Amino acid sequence: MTVVTTRGAEGEDVGLTANSFNSVSLDPPMVLWSLDRKSSIAAAFMAAEHFAVHILASDQEPVSNQFAKRGIDRFAGLVVERGHGDVPLLAGCSARFECRTSYRHDGGDHIIFAGEVVAFDSFGRAPLVFHGGNYGLLMKKAEDDEGATSSFGDDWLDFLLGRAYFQLLMPLRAEVERQGLDDVHYNILSALSAGEGRSVAELSRMVDFTGHRVDDEHFATLAARKLIFIEGGERVRFTEAGPRYAVEMMAAGKSAEADAAGELDSNEVRLLKVLLKRVIRATGQGLPEHWHKENIWRENNVWGATGGSST
Ligand SMILES: Cc1cc2nc3c(=O)[nH]c(=O)nc-3n(C[C@H](O)[C@H](O)[C@H](O)COP(=O)(O)O)c2cc1C
Repeated sequence: MTVVTTRGAEGEDVGLTANSFNSVSLDPPMVLWSLDRKSSIAAAFMAAEHFAVHILASDQEPVSNQFAKRGIDRFAGLVVERGHGDVPLLAGCSARFECRTSYRHDGGDHIIFAGEVVAFDSFGRAPLVFHGGNYGLLMKKAEDDEGATSSFGDDWLDFLLGRAYFQLLMPLRAEVERQGLDDVHYNILSALSAGEGRSVAELSRMVDFTGHRVDDEHFATLAARKLIFIEGGERVRFTEAGPRYAVEMMAAGKSAEADAAGELDSNEVRLLKVLLKRVIRATGQGLPEHWHKENIWRENNVWGATGGSST
């Protein structure tokens, strides 16, 4: 998606959302886009010596919608800089072409504007895509989708999810084992880090989803390591050393996550999270109450009062 802007004869800023943008030439660098002849701002673009094309970033859907609306100030609330010919430049986009108008061609009910690129900025943000009537995220096509998975599991979502989960956790599991603890201890500490003072029974339920059973031994080990204590025989609380230890463990988990995502760029990581959330939503009807986000995060979590990661 792009937003094309220019400055009108009266010095007013004008712009519109356009997906007709394309590249034309490398030498000299030229681009084109087309404008509806009936557009209320056609006269401004016909007279303008310069225009700017903004390749919108994936989080700029509101900007795209704003510049497609009639009867509003399309620049309201936006930070605007000035480019060649005093053309308004928008911030936060993926890339930006400043152009000198070279040609205006007849294009049926549209006018085709070709412009020579006089300045170009790339901001390294993933672009906003429009396809089939919907906004989308861009993902590069995989060269091969085989690799580490066996032919048996290639088409099985549960196998792929399970294997990815297992492999993601392996380095962390090794670290936990080096410390003489196991997955269950780690899960208890993670659950506590989202808000301590839970009952033994509640923590056991929270760890259920891993398929592991929590028993008194697990709490006894963590208490012997002086990471937790059980208040009044029921409420599990961190000792002074507990939160730091939990944070270190989870930092090791985050670093494993970064390694696992090594072959993905930041846009693909985002895409993967979007897709996983959809799977979670689609399969979450029977989710136990205590696994709903609002029931996991408490005021007294170790990550700060707002409660950690976004949804
Ligand atoms: C996804 C999308 C793509 C668009 N692409 C173009 C385009 O390439 N050229 C164009 O003239 N208008 C395009 N429009 C329409 C304009 O953004 C805008 O709605 C129109 O210019 C408003 O009318 P006005 O120009 O009379 O103010 C597009 C709108 C949307 C939502």
